[in-house]
Amino acid sequence: MSLRSRINTPEENGSRGEDGHLVASYRAKLLEEIDLAEMSSLAAAERRARLERVLGHIISREGPVLSTVERSQLIRRVVDEALGLGILEPLLEDASITEIMVNGPDAIFVERGGRVEQLPLRFPSHDQLMQTIERIVSTVNRRVDESNPMVDARLPSGERVNVIIPPLSLTGAILTIRRFPRSFTLQELAGFGSLDDHMLYLLAGLVQARFNIIVSGATGTGKTTLLNALSGLIPDTDRIITIEDSAELQLQQRHVVRLESRPPNVEGQGRVTIRDLVRNSLRMRPDRIVVGEVRGGESLDMLQAMSTGHDGSLATVHANSAEDALMRLKTLAAMSEVEIPFEALHDQINSAIDVIIQLTRFADGVRRITEIALLDSHGSEPYRIATVARFNAQPMAADGRVHGRFEYFPIPRRTADRLYMASQPTPQAFGVAQSADQLATRVAR
Ligand SMILES: Nc1ncnc2c1ncn2[C@@H]1O[C@H](COP(=O)(O)OP(=O)(O)O)[C@@H](O)[C@H]1O
Ligand SMILES: [Mg+2]
Repeated sequence: MSLRSRINTPEENGSRGEDGHLVASYRAKLLEEIDLAEMSSLAAAERRARLERVLGHIISREGPVLSTVERSQLIRRVVDEALGLGILEPLLEDASITEIMVNGPDAIFVERGGRVEQLPLRFPSHDQLMQTIERIVSTVNRRVDESNPMVDARLPSGERVNVIIPPLSLTGAILTIRRFPRSFTLQELAGFGSLDDHMLYLLAGLVQARFNIIVSGATGTGKTTLLNALSGLIPDTDRIITIEDSAELQLQQRHVVRLESRPPNVEGQGRVTIRDLVRNSLRMRPDRIVVGEVRGGESLDMLQAMSTGHDGSLATVHANSAEDALMRLKTLAAMSEVEIPFEALHDQINSAIDVIIQLTRFADGVRRITEIALLDSHGSEPYRIATVARFNAQPMAADGRVHGRFEYFPIPRRTADRLYMASQPTPQAFGVAQSADQLATRVAR
């Protein structure tokens, strides 16, 4: 049954009223009859099948008059609630939903096709919501309670889950489930209008010619998705090490090493940070280091690696523009315990970073590359950011879509030479700047 038809069926409208009672009472009966210890030894699919069978017997025995459809709906809902994630189960099954947001028991929102909508669903009570949350976080051996009111975890199936409960949240328990992002090729992203073919060829060349690339954007703008697509262009002969907080990248190359950081356990021990992993990766003879998201002191290690021979590395950072990304890398690098003056960090960024790709999610839900910029400065010079591609948006049209077009600017001679040396031609749409004044540059500190 599709999600839409489920939520449009009155019985499926949350577990309120009489119907909710029926579900709750059968759920209690079911839990009485099953052997929990035996249940836990079964695989998930078997467990569900077993519960459905037992419940089928209970219903037949009790004999309420139900049509076949009603009966299977009831069984499904009771079993969902008994072992699954209740009303979240069908949402999790729906591939078109990319994010599930539960704001307390009464408000459930989902993101679909880049748009957020509220569903006519609710949890029967705050306790039920808390039970569901506990069930989710316990699958990854975490717990959530007043002394531990925030949890960020990844489910075995890949979804990322964030929980924050009162008293930190003033609107009840909040659950945010981010689906495991589907991976797309750069071609597919171009098909969505996120970039065009000229930009695609330029980016492919930059990756293959081992430029160090930073993907910048706010949460949910598609950084990880683009990082994955770009990483897909790394030659199969390179040894690639990916480093992430929660492993989302899905690289198809033969020689990929995947590392994932680890939060501390309940006793506060055993934590392994992105930074530890970046440092360790340098001793693993990487050809390419791909950092899922730079959000702490690892910025320093990454910049050092990038500027000392580990070129061709890729990373994302949470920032709203190219200059913001540079500033953020600097601030994060300064967060490491190594005392490095800001000026030294500035030099390091100038020598480490080659390309910044800015992503923006527009009001119509489309995620676009809004800028491809090259960092064209050296040493202690102020940052010189040369725009080579830009999305020029028009005000939103009556149809609710954002129209606009990509614009191209000449690329710096130095970049063109480097591409040429790597047998990567510069796409003609851009052209090569003959002098500095042909570049679309801006300066930042
Ligand atoms: N260019 C795109 N076009 C359409 N959907 C996209 C695009 N990029 C990402 N998405 C979708 O948007 C969601 C968020 O993407 P993600 O890469 O995880 O963002 P971020 O890493 O910036 O938080 C995912 O569901 C992903 O599949
Ligand atoms: Mg991401």
